[in-house]
Amino acid sequence: MATVRTSIHGYWSSRFVFVLAAAGSAVGLGNIWKFPYIAGENGGGAFVLLYLLCIALFGIPVMMSEVLLGRRGRSSPVNTMTTLAAEEKRTKAWRLLGVLGVLAGFLILSYYSVIAGWALAYVVETATGTFSGVTGEKAGEVFTNLISNPQRLLFWHTVFIVLTMLVVVRGVSGGLEKAVRILMPALFILIIIMIGYAMLNGNFMEGLKFLFTPDFSKLNPEVVLKAMGQAFFSLSLGMGAIMMYGSYLPDDASIATTSFQVAMADTLVAILAGLAIFPIVFANGLEASQGPGLIFNTLPLAFGQMSGGLLFGTIFFILLVFAAWTSAISLIEPAVAWLIERFSISRFISSMICGVVVWVIGLGTVYSFNSWEKIEVFNGTFLENKSFFDLLDYLTSNIMLPLGGLLICIFAAWSMTEKSRREELKIKHEGAYKVWRFLARYITPIGVILIFLHVLGILEKLNLVT
Ligand code: TRP
Repeated sequence: MATVRTSIHGYWSSRFVFVLAAAGSAVGLGNIWKFPYIAGENGGGAFVLLYLLCIALFGIPVMMSEVLLGRRGRSSPVNTMTTLAAEEKRTKAWRLLGVLGVLAGFLILSYYSVIAGWALAYVVETATGTFSGVTGEKAGEVFTNLISNPQRLLFWHTVFIVLTMLVVVRGVSGGLEKAVRILMPALFILIIIMIGYAMLNGNFMEGLKFLFTPDFSKLNPEVVLKAMGQAFFSLSLGMGAIMMYGSYLPDDASIATTSFQVAMADTLVAILAGLAIFPIVFANGLEASQGPGLIFNTLPLAFGQMSGGLLFGTIFFILLVFAAWTSAISLIEPAVAWLIERFSISRFISSMICGVVVWVIGLGTVYSFNSWEKIEVFNGTFLENKSFFDLLDYLTSNIMLPLGGLLICIFAAWSMTEKSRREELKIKHEGAYKVWRFLARYITPIGVILIFLHVLGILEKLNLVT
């Protein structure tokens, strides 16, 4: 039986729009804020290499699997999994995969929005000239003042959630398409200009060396886990966002080509962001491993010193907000679509409910940077010194997303019939199909499980690794 299902939420107007929307989802704070800071925290080169490996071996197969399931199910991840499990005569429990995704989406967006709020606050700071001729110390102060003030964080978090829900209310094929078309290329050009600046004024060689000379002594199981988590996070995989976007994909579009394009674009932006930031870090004697404040402490120095930096810096932070915006929408769309399907409520009501829930969870992150920096109940455990934000980020990126991705691959490459798989993927090139199936069947599931076991120390106990 060919799929005759239709999406009640609409369709992309073309294959190209899907690529734009999926790239809009993938390219976000994960590339520009998170990638540089965790690469910095985890020693640079070796982490970057692992990250790239994870993109190739897990990222692309999972992305293809997600789009495949989404397009075949044509509804929110929960209902897509329910429908497909029934069709393939598999257990109803597959539905939980969709539920896990919806949950991960809420949790991720709750802190994502707070960080996007920092970027919003920085639009104003930059535009009002705070950074003109700024020193490293002064830039650091501006950042500390922001994050130690819960009211300000709360204000910008609220603004960002409202912005996100405004687009979600209108549905995917409304404003989103148009925004992505212009803003993504603009962001890309700005990053290239930043690299130009970093080449002329930063310590570019040092930056290159840091990102691309692997120092394997820096590797440990935690670093491997983080590189994997970052690959999933950056590509928006493992929670149904791409599955949801796949459900709006026209029938004739090639899943393999589009997935590949999205993954390449995303990876490129992350690497370019690293190239723009680290030369400035080293030229100014800043700390590469300083954590989540990295870009907020680094980029203002460049904007403060370059001519036209006021205008340029303002545009940069505006575009960063847009990149975060198009990602945020995809984090909440699966939940919104599911509530609509489940309770037959309007898109408006569903968006309101989701927005409020995310906003409330976000309070935990707002206070993570000031009054509630550490959760005392965890003292004495391995979670000691972790804030609510650290915990959420760790749990979602490093555990929930890889677990989701693993299950998605298992369903697509094992549980579905060969016929369904081929029918939906429509890969003409037999070799390419086999490569995908091999990666999704063996490499991704086994790789993710081995990394989990490695972190738990189980491989060590079995004397499999030293
Ligand atoms: N990938 C986005 C970024 O890099 C964040 C994001 C959007 C995401 N949708 C997602 C992460 C789904 C995980 C899952 O900023």
